[in-house]
Amino acid sequence: MVDQQLAKSFENIGADYDRYRPGFPDAAAEVIVPEQVSTALDLGAGTGKFTELLLDRADRVIAVEPSDAMLDVLRAKLPAVEAYLGGAEDIPLADATVDAVAVAQAFHWFDREPACAEIRRVLVPGGTLGLLWNHSDPDCAWDRACHRIAHPAVADTDTTTESAAEELPGFVFVGRAEILWSEQITRADYIGRWLTVSSFLVADDATRARMVAEIDAILDADPATKGQSRFVLPMITEVFVYRAAR
Ligand SMILES: C[S@@+](CC[C@H](N)C(=O)[O-])C[C@H]1O[C@@H](n2cnc3c(N)ncnc32)[C@H](O)[C@@H]1O
Repeated sequence: MVDQQLAKSFENIGADYDRYRPGFPDAAAEVIVPEQVSTALDLGAGTGKFTELLLDRADRVIAVEPSDAMLDVLRAKLPAVEAYLGGAEDIPLADATVDAVAVAQAFHWFDREPACAEIRRVLVPGGTLGLLWNHSDPDCAWDRACHRIAHPAVADTDTTTESAAEELPGFVFVGRAEILWSEQITRADYIGRWLTVSSFLVADDATRARMVAEIDAILDADPATKGQSRFVLPMITEVFVYRAAR
């Protein structure tokens, strides 16, 4: 069951989300769209962090996103993308018009059955659905510990990717890929990133301040981050690929 308060936590965030959240490796787009297609849709596109990787892979790129604040940033950044306000459960596109649908960091927010039916409706027969998430490297103790602050109930079971079951209604599972990569991040930006995560966005001021203090304490204690203003953050992008059943 989707927590609507958390799902809607992105309604008013745009610029900060774009500034602090990580992008995605091009290899993830390659897994979903290995050959040039006519039309690709990024669903729950946010500020376009994954959408931009589709521009070299599709003649026509469409973004659908329910948050105006996110879409404003996407439109300013990626004027070549057709951007529409909308949700996964009611996609504002005609039947069988899209060759590939990508969903980055968002499928867990969708109402699964109606969203799968809508994605299948807009896809051409045999079209591709790619679901992807960035997540922490289990070997990175300090980042894992910070994840436990943000998602205490689920940090060790990996939360979001659980929604990517091998059976999605109307789809055939094709495969899963894991891409390991890393980025250099300043301590300030790492903390700024946490402030764009749903559990921080919905927290009251006192709770949010406590969560940030806990993250500071982790960074002050771990030998990899202690006293450092910049560190290497390892990341794993997990991609699940499906074909629309014919
Ligand atoms: C964590 S953000 C990911 C944004 C972007 N895909 C990225 O990877 O940067 C989750 C996005 O899902 C969107 N979202 C939430 N519920 C949705 C729904 N039912 N249909 C489509 N998008 C939804 C939010 O507005 C938000 O932009």
